[in-house]
Amino acid sequence: MRRIDLLAVDELADGEMKMAFVDGTDQVLVVNTGGEFTAVQGICSHEYFELDKGFLTNGTLTCALHLSRFDLTSGEPLDPPAEQPLAMYPVVVEDGRVCIEVPDGPLEISEG
Ligand code: FES
Repeated sequence: MRRIDLLAVDELADGEMKMAFVDGTDQVLVVNTGGEFTAVQGICSHEYFELDKGFLTNGTLTCALHLSRFDLTSGEPLDPPAEQPLAMYPVVVEDGRVCIEVPDGPLEISEG
C-alpha cells in the first residue's frame, strides 16, 4: 500500500475540483463536496479527456466532451456514451493534506 499526497485541504473550496498528478503522469481529480473529499481518475473512462474541464452537479461529475455524467460515490456512469466506471481512490485527510491510499504499483485507471 502506498499513500500519495495530492494537495492541501485549503487549496480546494467546497464545490470545487482540481487535478493532481501522481507519478508525474497520472491525473487524479480531487473533488470537495461539502467538505468531503473524493478522488477519481482525472481522465474520462470513455475517451482521453480531462475531467476537470467538466461540471459538478448534485454529486455527479459531467464530462464536457460527450456529457456522460458519473456518480461521485460509485464512479458509475449515469448516461451514455461512457460505459466504464471511473476508478475511485480511498481518500485520507491528515495534517491538512488530502491523500489517497492505493495498492503498490501503477495507479488503477479504467479506460473504455
Ligand atoms: S470523453 Fe468523456 S464522455 Fe466521452
